[in-house]
Amino acid sequence: MSGPLRNDRFLRALLRQEVDRTPIWIMRQAGRYLPEYREVRAKAGDFLTLCSTPELARDVTLQPIHRFGFDAAILFSDILLIPDAMGLELYFEAGEGPRFRKRVLTGADIAGLKMPEPEKDLDYVLKAVELTVEGLDGEVPLIGFAGSPWTVATYAVESGSSKDFAHIKGMMYSAPEDLHRFLEILAEATAAYLNAQIAAGVDAVMLFDTWGGVLSEEKYKEFSLRYMARVLANLTQEVNKRRIPAILFTKGGGAWLESIAETGCEVIGIDWMTDLGKARQRVGSGCALQGNLDPAVLYGTPQVIREEAGKVLAAFGSGPGHVFNLGHGISPGVPPENVATLIDAVRELSPQYHS
Ligand code: CP3
Repeated sequence: MSGPLRNDRFLRALLRQEVDRTPIWIMRQAGRYLPEYREVRAKAGDFLTLCSTPELARDVTLQPIHRFGFDAAILFSDILLIPDAMGLELYFEAGEGPRFRKRVLTGADIAGLKMPEPEKDLDYVLKAVELTVEGLDGEVPLIGFAGSPWTVATYAVESGSSKDFAHIKGMMYSAPEDLHRFLEILAEATAAYLNAQIAAGVDAVMLFDTWGGVLSEEKYKEFSLRYMARVLANLTQEVNKRRIPAILFTKGGGAWLESIAETGCEVIGIDWMTDLGKARQRVGSGCALQGNLDPAVLYGTPQVIREEAGKVLAAFGSGPGHVFNLGHGISPGVPPENVATLIDAVRELSPQYHS
């Protein structure tokens, strides 16, 4: 937990309190589209070294804050460090994304998993949180995060990214009790991990459910949402009388917003396939919304970026409870000056929606 914040617009918006303008940050804001990130990463040698060296993780977290003045920072880390700490041995293959040396395919594999102790097995993440809070020095809040149990399970079972999710869906339909056991373990580990991040100083937390949207409604509720709700139910709610809001983001979850709101999360992340105005009508005043510009808009001209940002602000409309973001992570090929154009647009166009 940082001391008093000089800019608390983001936290106020999460709690649906009045703000002067709509706060903005973007998913994957520290990353390959920034030349200064590529420089640090090249020096580190690889992505996992960056994640596991707290000073470097702090430095790249601060880069987009210093360059653009976003209203929130997000810890530089990865959702796959939990399964790594469980013994699955994460590595990255150039051009292929994440992989595990051991994978989870059977009940015996699940029984062999180790329950990580965050203070011991993920101490480098907690150290990165502490150094980042110190480095931010109250400028903006810091977001901690983890993957949803379902999304992390897809990587552990498929051993990386997948197109059809054959193995995990196979497990879901042939040995559902095994998958439930795995998700239970992940939910417990994730809650402990996020609570350790909260104790180390993050101001809000976000669960990334990147692959919840590949499920049917019934299976989404049974295998993804249920375990996110379990994580939320076990989170530290308040530190020093300050609420720690939770953001829940299911990519492709637009059909299930009412159910997502019922988990008690403070904020729902909205992808770009969903209309923000309709989402607001459906969710009502129960939750704030975060989103939802199509990340590909950042390949457009300044004029188009401005217009499209204006449409997102207008779709949400007047009043508190909106955090501007993309509908998913920024692509590595986006020119950084287009991000500056977006931020300027949100700064100029959003005050009219707040009184
Ligand atoms: O948003 C941020 O700036 C914080 C950092 C962050 C990263 N990963 C850094 C990263 C966050 C929040 C994540 C979450 C994450 N990681 C998700 C969920 C969010 C999403 O995008 O849906 C997922 C599915 C992962 C797993 C993961 N990590 C994949 C699939 C990849 C490969 C991506 C690719 O394009 O090669 C990573 C690596 C990764 N995580 C990078 C970054 C900046 C790229 C690393 C590099 O090559 O430098």
